[in-house]
Amino acid sequence: MDNQYFYEPAQGHGLPHDPFNAIVGPRPIGWISTRSAGGALNLAPYSFFNAFNYTPPLIGFASLGRKDTLRNIEETGEFVWNLATRPLAEAMNASCASAPPEVDEFQLAGLATAPSRVVAPPRVADSPVAFECKCSQIIRLQGASGVETNSWLILGEVVGVHIARSALRDGIYDTAGSRPVLRGGGPADYFEITPDNLFRMTRPSYP
Ligand SMILES: Cc1cc2nc3c(=O)[nH]c(=O)nc-3n(C[C@H](O)[C@H](O)[C@H](O)COP(=O)(O)O)c2cc1C
Repeated sequence: MDNQYFYEPAQGHGLPHDPFNAIVGPRPIGWISTRSAGGALNLAPYSFFNAFNYTPPLIGFASLGRKDTLRNIEETGEFVWNLATRPLAEAMNASCASAPPEVDEFQLAGLATAPSRVVAPPRVADSPVAFECKCSQIIRLQGASGVETNSWLILGEVVGVHIARSALRDGIYDTAGSRPVLRGGGPADYFEITPDNLFRMTRPSYP
């Protein structure tokens, strides 16, 4: 038997579960708070999420389908990213319920809000890090043949950064100290980052 399994996704993976997001994982979670034009609060996790640029700092996430978060950002141009941590993991999961637009997932998940400074949507009060963002681009994703998908990439410039002082050690941000959780594959897999995951490697110089 061939020791490499190969498939072309357009023809199906032929495995018990699609391995795609178990392979591209664990992924950081975009835990996104927004406010509708009418003032309704919304909070939801997005694991098709990452950072894309330093100057200005840009982050982005993909909405698979038109969801409340996308609609709120189209209406207001603003969102907040909150760090999902192990103590907040169950609340983060509760906030993904596909509730009607008028339902406030902060309340649904039993989370307190904290005010932002630059944008209107509030932060998750107990999250040690939050980025206040202004939407920079919304891109409808398409496949290689140019066929449009029903997914949108939402990019935003980070215009305000909140860091709990307890997450800073001598002014250096301690990634593992906040115990971030990341999304694996399957219906339920997550990974927690702890200090024993850390190893260091400096970039080689050339020649
Ligand atoms: C950990 C986690 C990651 C998720 N990642 C995504 C994602 O990347 N894109 C997406 O469209 N939905 C994702 N979802 C599902 C949304 O959170 C869910 O559809 C939610 O109801 C959307 O909320 P909204 O309509 O208030 O924006 C994820 C759910 C969980 C629990």
